Amino acid sequence: MADETPGVRMLVVEDDRALSEIVCEELRARGHLAVAAESVADGLEHLKRSEFEVALVDLMLPDGSGIDILKRIAEEGLPTEAILLTGYATVDTAIQAMKLGAYDYVTKPARMEELEALVAKAAEKSRLRRENAHLRRRLEGHAPADGIVGEDAAMRELLATVERVAPSDLPVLIQGESGTGKELIARAVHRLSARAAHPFVAINCGAVPESLLESELFGHEKGAFTGALLRKPGLFEVADKGVLFLDEVGAASPSVQARLLRAIETSEFLRVGGARPVRTDVRLISATNKNVKAEMAEGRFREDLYDRLNGVTLKLPPLRERKGDIALLARHFLDRVAPRKRLSPRAIEALQAYAWPGNVRELQMVMQRAAILGQGEVLDAPDLPLDARDQNWKTVAVKTGLSLAEMEREYIETVLRQNDGHRGKTARALGIDPKTLYNKLGPERPRKKT
Ligand SMILES: Nc1ncnc2c1ncn2[C@@H]1O[C@H](COP(=O)(O)OP(=O)(O)OP(=O)(O)O)[C@@H](O)[C@H]1O
Ligand SMILES: [Mg+2]
Repeated sequence: MADETPGVRMLVVEDDRALSEIVCEELRARGHLAVAAESVADGLEHLKRSEFEVALVDLMLPDGSGIDILKRIAEEGLPTEAILLTGYATVDTAIQAMKLGAYDYVTKPARMEELEALVAKAAEKSRLRRENAHLRRRLEGHAPADGIVGEDAAMRELLATVERVAPSDLPVLIQGESGTGKELIARAVHRLSARAAHPFVAINCGAVPESLLESELFGHEKGAFTGALLRKPGLFEVADKGVLFLDEVGAASPSVQARLLRAIETSEFLRVGGARPVRTDVRLISATNKNVKAEMAEGRFREDLYDRLNGVTLKLPPLRERKGDIALLARHFLDRVAPRKRLSPRAIEALQAYAWPGNVRELQMVMQRAAILGQGEVLDAPDLPLDARDQNWKTVAVKTGLSLAEMEREYIETVLRQNDGHRGKTARALGIDPKTLYNKLGPERPRKKT
């Protein structure tokens, strides 16, 4: 690896000319670019004019101390790492220098091998610092005020659409895998709309039991059913003049779907057990991680309702399809919990190589955990708690003595387990049709109801 690294840009601040010349020559012989300065003033002048990765600084200079140069580097936030050269190796000055951010110090006469190793490490640190600063600048330059990171072409287009459709009253349908940012986008549409001053009310249709969902959405009259002791307004009333966010709308039962459709078509609805229509003025934003077209084809989702919800569709790409955003999102999440920690190039590579089944939410969790678990100030690939299942994805133990059918069965079971029993994902991972998987496995065992 060392011989791939291009030469390090170095500033050597040393008033002993003979020593300075030897050091510079040795550094150049090793492929580095070495510039000599003889005083504090001279050194600062060079730092002002061009960028150096590493500065080798003598502590005792004719017009001051090498510490002055350290201070300037810190003040200006230069990406330069300083190594102090000192003939007076007192613990005190060394400690003072380290506190001021010096990378390390060497005592004169310095051994060239020792110095070379130190220079290589300091240069690497300088490079990391520069790369992370670059990521941060890109974040600051492009993240809309509402903290949505998205520089990838598909995301930029999507965010442009959000800005365009938000001010209208069009219903919005957001599609995307779990954890891709559907709710974040729904809130952005609300914030950028004329309804921003009115409520954003969210309900997860998949998390509320069917019987409750109806009375949550439309409310109920006193005595409508056992336990309905008081009249309760529905979310369609609560969200009046604002936005009602129907999360996982694909999970709504046929009867809820029918009521939703009526409420949308007539702008009014009946509370459960009520006879008097209640008027409502809400903008609907819905989200689903299911393929609605497939749901409609199989008769699980009403086409007429789909038409009403889908004024415009926003499709959030899975994270693995916007690799360009991975490093930015990682930096974004790391900044919230550990802004001083940096990511090594290998860590960024590992993040980009990972498949992210849990999308942005999983990346957020990984960065939060890495910030806590990672010891040093640089997070490297092994510090990232990436799901081991994914990395072992392609490793399957082959047993002998099984028939082909048994082997297939075992393999399918393995992939099913890797996908937490999710048949759709399993079929996708196996590259077969869900129906084929169904034929091979038989009917799904009933899942526990929530
Ligand atoms: N582009 C992004 N920039 C910054 N943060 C993001 C982005 N996308 C998602 N997040 C964050 O990731 C997390 C998951 O996002 P969100 O809850 O919106 O996803 P979702 O698609 O609604 O997930 P689910 O399907 O599981 O409900 C949130 O903390 C959100 O703030
Ligand atoms: Mg969500």
